[in-house]
Amino acid sequence: MSLVTFKVNKPFSIIILVIIFNLFETVSCISVTNERYRLNYHIMSPAGWINDPNGFSYYNGEYHVFYQYNPDDATHANMHWGHVTSEDLVHWKHLPIALYQDQPYDVDGVYSGSGIVVNESLVLMYTGNVNQIDGRDFSTQSQALAISSDGESFIKYINNPVIPFPPQNGGNDFRDPKIWKYNDTLYVVLGNQNNLTMQGRAVIYSSYDLFDWTYVGVLAESTGSFGYMWECPDFFELNGFHILLLSPQGIEANGDDYQNIYQTGYFVGSYNYRTNNFSHSNTFIELDHGHDFYAAQTMETPDGRRIMIAWMDMWERDYPEQEDGWVGALTIPRELTLSSSGRILQNPVQELIALRTSTLLNTTLNVEGISKLFDVHSAEILIKATFNDAITQVGIRIELGNNSCVLAYLDTSNNKFVLDRGDNDPRRTLINVTNANNPEALEMRVFLDKSSIEIFLGDGEITFSSRIYPSSTPAVYALSNGTVTQMEVVAYELENIWSGSWCIRQSSFV
Ligand code: FRU
Repeated sequence: MSLVTFKVNKPFSIIILVIIFNLFETVSCISVTNERYRLNYHIMSPAGWINDPNGFSYYNGEYHVFYQYNPDDATHANMHWGHVTSEDLVHWKHLPIALYQDQPYDVDGVYSGSGIVVNESLVLMYTGNVNQIDGRDFSTQSQALAISSDGESFIKYINNPVIPFPPQNGGNDFRDPKIWKYNDTLYVVLGNQNNLTMQGRAVIYSSYDLFDWTYVGVLAESTGSFGYMWECPDFFELNGFHILLLSPQGIEANGDDYQNIYQTGYFVGSYNYRTNNFSHSNTFIELDHGHDFYAAQTMETPDGRRIMIAWMDMWERDYPEQEDGWVGALTIPRELTLSSSGRILQNPVQELIALRTSTLLNTTLNVEGISKLFDVHSAEILIKATFNDAITQVGIRIELGNNSCVLAYLDTSNNKFVLDRGDNDPRRTLINVTNANNPEALEMRVFLDKSSIEIFLGDGEITFSSRIYPSSTPAVYALSNGTVTQMEVVAYELENIWSGSWCIRQSSFV
């Protein structure tokens, strides 16, 4: 700034300096130094670190997604709430940071939470995190409100925190409020640890006015095998049942299941609001079988669909994009329904069709071995493979450059679907493709982006979400080992929604 000199009188030069400073303020971003892994149609931050989706809601004609955000560095620290909005769940734009860690009760992080529209305001409820207790009148993790009447700037409630302490027998791990309304009452479910048993649990509070909260009780609790802490609970109705969705920490890997450091899954049951009794099968069902899926959050659209979005990464990994100045992305939005056997089915929201720019392929192939389909960075690929008993593997192979490749295929000898990134960490799960007749059929819907793959199988009961890191434009092949497979392939190239300006103001300038 000091390099700019003008021969003008003093007040005028001050005005010029202010204008130049403001210009600098609005165009300054934390920089991404290399675009190689930047995704084309997934929610990411402009730069820096992101984890959980937060405050997923619909307000004033727009969908709002917030996310755990460190604008200053590509590491988990300094949690703010970043903010994007969209009219169609597909084309997102960045808004200024919604929440800063600027109060005594959230000085070490504005942690995860949710959003709800109350009296025409968009209300965010989040966990304020402080690292130490030193005689304050709230605990290390307490629950706070922030309110907006324009969907962009948020004012923290003056009497925060509204839930200052964990409930009885509750440890200080007490976070991630998910708020909803039932009849005229507001409810919130929170993740917590029972400090007597050291087991994870979800607890419920209720309120008539948003500001005064009464402890209702424990909604569900680990009985020994479901983890020591439950993060990011969500509780909602689906096809007449109640679903408790959560991300437990501390579930041990078991065969093909629970292969990530932390898990995301659900219990299905029915809830009695009068007695706070959630009767469920005590079966925790893992929601996704890939490497990168955590902290899922849902919302109900104005037309009554239950939509979910999740963090498409995982704690304690190597993040190759970190050296480029950013880490983390969110999954595509998925519509949830419940199958007749009580399993959640996930399917990409219908709005995603708007991303299709051109048709890459629309054909039926007879594949034996591998057959090249196309080179592409971001695409939606629909495959219907029909095969007989001689088949051993059927699916796709994606070459990423540098001799590395991703295989996504049905292994018929084990009846498993496998996602193998070639890193000695394949993921597998049992899949039932057998029908009463021969031939059998496998239906795959794949969303490929510049550093991610999301696979939806059959009716959506089985999904795999993982980050992948190509070093050149990926080459996609159809794969059939054992015999010839007939494959109907339809594929579309997908739009880059971020090609415009994605710059936002940085925290240090505000
Ligand atoms: C889940 C989580 C939440 C917490 C947030 C902090 O990934 O650990 O429990 O609120 O991330 O960023």
